[in-house]
Amino acid sequence: MLSESLTKAISEQVNAEYYSAYLYQAMSAYAEDASLMGAANWLWVQTREEMAHGIHMYQYILDRGAIPSFDTIQAPPASTSFSSLLDVFEAVLVHEREVTERINKIATLAMKENDHACYHFIMWYVNEQVEEESNARNIIDRLKLVGNNAGQLLTLDSELATRLYVNPFPTDVKLM
Ligand code: FEO
Repeated sequence: MLSESLTKAISEQVNAEYYSAYLYQAMSAYAEDASLMGAANWLWVQTREEMAHGIHMYQYILDRGAIPSFDTIQAPPASTSFSSLLDVFEAVLVHEREVTERINKIATLAMKENDHACYHFIMWYVNEQVEEESNARNIIDRLKLVGNNAGQLLTLDSELATRLYVNPFPTDVKLM
């Protein structure tokens, strides 16, 4: 059975994943309002991934014989508070670095408690965070190269439009 401390930590992370989904949805709304439909798509796919992460963690708690706890989900910044797509993706990177710290704390706790199953579970997220941060950094670098060139921005936007949502946990019935 999952310990009380790990149940609390992962329940809090479920909440944080739903907050991430909410944050990316607010960012997607900014992009759509700015007619950057590719970026809006990319951020929408991210929203769906974050929901999948939250549900996956929720199910893990139940699968380990514990019950998740629920709390208020924080409101994201207003979509109108973003000043540019670069501003959005810089906020994505700051956010994902915070998520990495949270995930690492859970991994450390699982290690301390010698919960090998939980450690294995959370390592998927440790690796996922490397990709999350790398994706954000890559888009930031490209947005900096684009600068104020509207044509290049639209080219980058077309690339972001090609991102498709793929269920990261295809065997999880709740996510089908
Ligand atoms: Fe659920 Fe963006 O990590």
